[in-house]
Amino acid sequence: MARVLSGIQPTGDKHIGNYIGAIRHWVVDQDVDDCFFFIVDLHALTAHPGPAELRESTLRVAAVLMACGLDPDRCTLWVQSHVHEHAELAWVLSNLAAFGELSRMTQFKDKSARQQLVGAGLFTYPVLQAADILLYRTDRVPVGEDQRQHLELTRDVAQRFNGRFGETFVLPEAAIPKVGARIMDLQDPTAKMSTSAESPQGTINIVDPPDDIRKKVRVAVTDSGREIVAREDKPAIANLLTIMSVATGRPIPDLEAAYEGKGYGDLKGDLAEAVIEYLRPIRERYEELMADPEEISRLLEVGAGKAQKVAAEVLAEVYERVGLLPRRQA
Ligand code: TYM
Repeated sequence: MARVLSGIQPTGDKHIGNYIGAIRHWVVDQDVDDCFFFIVDLHALTAHPGPAELRESTLRVAAVLMACGLDPDRCTLWVQSHVHEHAELAWVLSNLAAFGELSRMTQFKDKSARQQLVGAGLFTYPVLQAADILLYRTDRVPVGEDQRQHLELTRDVAQRFNGRFGETFVLPEAAIPKVGARIMDLQDPTAKMSTSAESPQGTINIVDPPDDIRKKVRVAVTDSGREIVAREDKPAIANLLTIMSVATGRPIPDLEAAYEGKGYGDLKGDLAEAVIEYLRPIRERYEELMADPEEISRLLEVGAGKAQKVAAEVLAEVYERVGLLPRRQA
């Protein structure tokens, strides 16, 4: 069985981009492979959230993941900060990641342009991500397109470590879906859908109430012309068709044929209802789960225990390989 691992930030509400690009694939993977999924609260610190907000959204994102179908009996599900080995390995690896390569990370460039205090943590964010992945000897990392560069860096760091200290880490492969790896913002189809978007109208959250979804789809920007086709010169319509295709299971060419001669309004009306139905079971399950936060915490604790077993062993091997003097056993 392959070892599969991926993480998600507990920032704000998770959106259909996260679901379509990543989470829905994790749900399938958990029945096939040895799966590790976690909520990256240490990474979230780089965006300076308020303490109460961070605690609450960590629990909410755990509920969203379970509502989407991640089952703690079939995968290992935990909160990153509950397994201290992530931060420790990140420190070791930070000495193998070059300043120059970290400066070239596009996510760093985008995010640092929008922050007043650009912390060192934002700069070394990809090193912590490399630690997350390498700590579990991961074979495959299912992510959206925006994570490709971080995965390449992870492989480079792993190779550098193995070359210098001997074969220790597995080189992970990114698994990026063919359809839906980059869902775009409904208000700006040149930008990816994101929690930190300028207008919340452009982002459909997984647990949005139906009326919010209707409104967001109704005011979504469209392209000039009338044709409903997924062409490069029609980024807004291509994005709506991609979401429609995923929500209905119908291939894009079928949808293009079905909407021939129809208007953007027809597409939007159908799309809103399709998305509402697609997300309905998740929202219902989410509300049930949120009624019992104690149970969510219990499941996360079990997950942290399972994760730490693997992490502690790998970290001990790394400490030994790099030459840290072992603490004498009393
Ligand atoms: P995060 O929390 O931003 O996103 C979680 C997952 O959702 C995908 N995604 C999208 N997919 C399609 N369209 C979009 N508009 C869209 N927006 C987000 C992301 O690609 C991601 O797969 N750095 C990571 C978290 C992380 C991680 C890891 C991932 C930390 N450590 C180790 C994998 C392995 C992040 O910020 O994801």
